Amino acid sequence: MTDLLTEPGTVAQERRLVTELPGPRSRELASRRAGAVASAVGSTLPIYVERAGGGVVVDVDGNSLIDLGSGIAVTNVGNAAPEVVDAVRAQVAAFTHTCFMVGPYEGYVAVCEELNRLTPGDHEKRSALFNSGAEAVENAVKVARQATKRSAIIVFDHAYHGRTNLTMALTAKNMPYKNGFGPFASEIYRVPMSYPFRDEPGMTGEQAAARAISLIETQVGAANVAGVLIEPIQGEGGFVVPAPGFLPALADWCRRSGALFIADEIQTGFCRTGQWFASEHEGVVPDLVTTAKGIAGGLPLAALTGRAEVMDAVHTGGLGGTYGGNPVACAAALATIRTMRERDLAGAARAIEATMLPRLKALQERTAVIGDVRGRGAMLAVELVRPGTTEPDAELTNRISKACHAQGVITLTAGTFGNVLRFLPPLVIGQDLLTEALDVLDAVFAEHAPAR
Ligand SMILES: Cc1ncc(COP(=O)(O)O)c(C=O)c1O
Repeated sequence: MTDLLTEPGTVAQERRLVTELPGPRSRELASRRAGAVASAVGSTLPIYVERAGGGVVVDVDGNSLIDLGSGIAVTNVGNAAPEVVDAVRAQVAAFTHTCFMVGPYEGYVAVCEELNRLTPGDHEKRSALFNSGAEAVENAVKVARQATKRSAIIVFDHAYHGRTNLTMALTAKNMPYKNGFGPFASEIYRVPMSYPFRDEPGMTGEQAAARAISLIETQVGAANVAGVLIEPIQGEGGFVVPAPGFLPALADWCRRSGALFIADEIQTGFCRTGQWFASEHEGVVPDLVTTAKGIAGGLPLAALTGRAEVMDAVHTGGLGGTYGGNPVACAAALATIRTMRERDLAGAARAIEATMLPRLKALQERTAVIGDVRGRGAMLAVELVRPGTTEPDAELTNRISKACHAQGVITLTAGTFGNVLRFLPPLVIGQDLLTEALDVLDAVFAEHAPAR
């Protein structure tokens, strides 16, 4: 793993607490916020950010925190990555917006070319660009329905696909995402996920797929299914890695049934799991792929990429939007992709796994509250339970996450039961910082969780 972003002028790659957290300036901003920002918008951290770079976030009081969150899997290439900053500066100075539907430009085309090359499969592809992950998923559903002339969309337990009306229907968890926001879109059918830690012991991926397929065939009917939409590793649902064989069996069923296999790679994409896309770990070639988050180093951009004949089944004007594929976001994406390729950030993600996974497994040996350690690349998690059971312990998970924040390490939680502590470091994080964050995690567990 390389220690990047140590050039002068960038943020010092260190954990350094100079006030209590939150410090006085963060507290002042919190009180301004209370009078201005809708209370429905929450924040994980109590601090307000002033700068960020590489693997470090600096708050308005001068505290430096180690980033194990990447703004929820976005700054894979590092925060304010120099290559991205340069590309954005140049593009902002040239033009900021024309609307691709009015005055097209090269950046949009070049991002689509990159996506068509990088996503799994060497078939002919086409892409379209949007603003957010949810918007990309909505468009995947539109395209799948138009191309197949069918309406049913299959989704999974624990799935997260966004917060718009259609994507709320696709998302599994009620609180906080759906509660009170219905009625939801129709023709969405939910089936069980392969969740090795919570499935019957020994259940294979093929068996879990057969369980899902049997429900699809009996309750929906194969001929009605436009698409099977799945996160190859579930994100918000708790970094659930399906048992080997599950994804290929579903993809095979789609091929046999005339349904489209739609991989939501919004959280797993762009080198996060140690490959460009998580579908690659099992050689799965989706018909449609949604991407966002890590694609543009922090600028808002999302995409739908798919088989040319599927994407082009939609009439001209059927896809689009004012800002989709904004030129500044496209410039950032091209710089991000170039940096990922040049610095082999997929390899960096695998190196992060090689450092973190043994440490998390050693921690699991020492405490009875870690029921499962899982993930791939730099998308790793521990699931917290009451000792000797699989009963989720969300309260302890929150307490541990907050204790990490207090020690200057940014961690996030996830999971249907709120009991998963997840780690998403920027792929450029230095080895020393990563080791220091793991030392903090060890100390926090030692303080808050009983040893075996
Ligand atoms: C797998 C997945 N799909 C869709 C989304 C929604 O993306 P956005 O928040 O950009 O709308 C997310 C966001 O966390 C996600 O993880």
